[in-house]
Amino acid sequence: MPLNAVSSGPPAQPRFFLRQIPVFGDRILAPMDGVSDWPFRSVCRSFGSAMSYTAFVAAHDVLAGRPLAYRALHFSEDERPVVFQIFDDSEERLLEAALRLQELSPDAIDINMGCSARCVSGRGAGAGLLRDPLKIGRIMARLSSSLEVPVSAKIRLGWDEAERNYLLVARAIEENGAALLAVHGRTRAQGYSGEADWEAIAEIKARAGIPVLGNGDIRTHDEAARRLMESGCDAVLIGRAAMGNPWIFGSRPRSAASRGELGQVIEDHLRRMLTYHGETEGILAFRKHLTRYIEGRGIPPERRTLLLTESEPDGVRRQLASLGLGASGEVERRSAAPAELRPALAV
Ligand SMILES: Cc1cc2nc3c(=O)[nH]c(=O)nc-3n(C[C@H](O)[C@H](O)[C@H](O)COP(=O)(O)O)c2cc1C
Repeated sequence: MPLNAVSSGPPAQPRFFLRQIPVFGDRILAPMDGVSDWPFRSVCRSFGSAMSYTAFVAAHDVLAGRPLAYRALHFSEDERPVVFQIFDDSEERLLEAALRLQELSPDAIDINMGCSARCVSGRGAGAGLLRDPLKIGRIMARLSSSLEVPVSAKIRLGWDEAERNYLLVARAIEENGAALLAVHGRTRAQGYSGEADWEAIAEIKARAGIPVLGNGDIRTHDEAARRLMESGCDAVLIGRAAMGNPWIFGSRPRSAASRGELGQVIEDHLRRMLTYHGETEGILAFRKHLTRYIEGRGIPPERRTLLLTESEPDGVRRQLASLGLGASGEVERRSAAPAELRPALAV
């Protein structure tokens, strides 16, 4: 079989619908600022991640026409369904930004109601919105009645242990026109500590009339299957554990991949990073992925340091080859053909 051949198609039946858009598959790469750029999203999508969420973009950056914000929203057609995620504390700015972004033809627009970072939640955006379910209701109502594309939201369980108001928030979101709800099973106060509460996620799913995506702490292929079954969610979002492991979206675990296949995936991802970010930034931004790809491969610490400080793409390739991780394997994926990025977005 030639490299980059399409060897396994998507599941025949849609798992759920994003309003009328069928979504094939039940594992989806979670939005991650600084991580889920076009290269990583498209690699994960080619392994079977069922749709693509961009990382969040500030509504005021969209309205100010900041090129970096628009750059984060670049996508390729083969990623569809594509969901643009935005955040802000202002109802007006969220609506204006969403109207503007709709012109760029995403399949849906998602409002971030989960970011716990102080600079976001502290000013009432991201998870800061969870403290005001009435405002959430107004935002969803205005966006869903003004936009043609579906609107969705990604939430946490509440502001803190004393304010776990997720059932109220989920209802405000659904009753005001959302087409989809994603839930990270922690409160804002937890940040990333403790464990995601999947019973709360299941509770939301049991009461919801719209698709619910569960999220938090899925580390393995089998765990994803278990969480899906136990929570009844329509799909799961997988974030941190997908780094270095896009196999988590496919039908075989990463441990089944040969060194050659791993090398091929690394090369493909690297190539996309260089295309998207340019050589200098691409190599730097790739290091956080590379470090995860090579985990557990028995690479001596000094060789690892050399590899992760290499600044030339060909140097990285040479070192990988000498470690037996050269690009030489076959990859079983939905579609691994490099895709054209949508042209520079109008600002
Ligand atoms: C580096 C990083 C960046 C993130 N950026 C976003 C973001 O832009 N939008 C969002 O909704 N969530 C963001 N998240 C949260 C993830 O989508 C997800 O909810 C969280 O990591 C829990 O899932 P996990 O345990 O599978 O990683 C981010 C998480 C990380 C680690």
